[in-house]
Amino acid sequence: MRRKSKCVLGIEGTAWNLSAAIVDQSRVIASAESSYHPVEGGLHPRAAAQHHATHMEQVIHDVLAKGKKNNAKISAVAFSIGPGFGPCLRTVATAARALSLSMNVPLIGVNHCIAHIEIGRWLCNVADPVILYVSGANSQVLSYRNGKYRIFGETLDIGIGNALDKFGRYAGLQHPGGPKIEEIARKAKCYMPLPYVVKGMDFSFSGLTTAAKDALAHAPLEDVCHSFQETAFAMLVEVTERALAHTGKKDILLAGGVGANSRLMEMLNTMCQDRSAKFFAPDKAYMKDNGAMIAYTGLLMLESGAVLSVEDSAVRPNYRPDEVEVTWR
Ligand code: ATP
Ligand code: FE2
Repeated sequence: MRRKSKCVLGIEGTAWNLSAAIVDQSRVIASAESSYHPVEGGLHPRAAAQHHATHMEQVIHDVLAKGKKNNAKISAVAFSIGPGFGPCLRTVATAARALSLSMNVPLIGVNHCIAHIEIGRWLCNVADPVILYVSGANSQVLSYRNGKYRIFGETLDIGIGNALDKFGRYAGLQHPGGPKIEEIARKAKCYMPLPYVVKGMDFSFSGLTTAAKDALAHAPLEDVCHSFQETAFAMLVEVTERALAHTGKKDILLAGGVGANSRLMEMLNTMCQDRSAKFFAPDKAYMKDNGAMIAYTGLLMLESGAVLSVEDSAVRPNYRPDEVEVTWR
């Protein structure tokens, strides 16, 4: 008889989305979420944490009720321990510690970036890809080697999502700007050159953002949105392509909230076709921040014994993915 897989409850709340899910080895059993959307301006860490604290009870109640209906017995509680906004991380960690103690199950601290990768590998069934991880705060090209996800290239300043959101706010678009810029860019008539900054395997977006803001003084918003996307995405695709060539790997996995962008997917796809590589991206719901990615990575960690004591569960706002010992591969 097949042994029943363990179920893990995962809680995500590093920035804008408070989200919880229960997964086992074969599926996402239950999920619930509440997202914080600032009325004006960008994300404020303390306001986001206040949102998470206010909605925590409801989100946890909902996910546990849905899990119960599906006979899920929780074997561990996983939470995103970092990177992210300190106040948000501390709110989520407090809830996770309390749940782990009251249910008398192990506590697992998951690296948020690694979780974006592992959910994609799971849902796309791809074993050993080069990963382009693009979100608000992070932009990295990674791949697994000898017990760690190594970073081949990354942003030298801000993440691509933050760059898009900053430009969007300046142009009068409500946060988050990324999806709105994608829509507006579809109506563009021409491309204008903007700073294309790739240094070695790293890239930078702040000069591009400033130049795009300045361009609004003399060019239509549609054309600037289009040119911003084409320039930034070409930088990301160039570095991803070089990582593919260097590692000799054959698959690309897209991860993180900016992965929802159709133009970015199209550009990656074209590059993959040119190199006879395969392109993978999970459903958009699993590229943005979500509880299932924390629960699933928690399950992998549980099965490889990577659990935490409450004393060792302090949050890590600057936790990098290449610091994580990958015990499950
Ligand atoms: P991380 O901590 O991993 O940096 P995050 O808090 O930024 O995560 P995500 O949900 O991974 O959260 O990514 C959010 C970002 O994705 C925002 O900057 C948003 O503008 C961007 N984004 C969402 N949809 C699109 C899109 N269609 N095109 C471009 N950017 C998008
Ligand atoms: Fe994220």
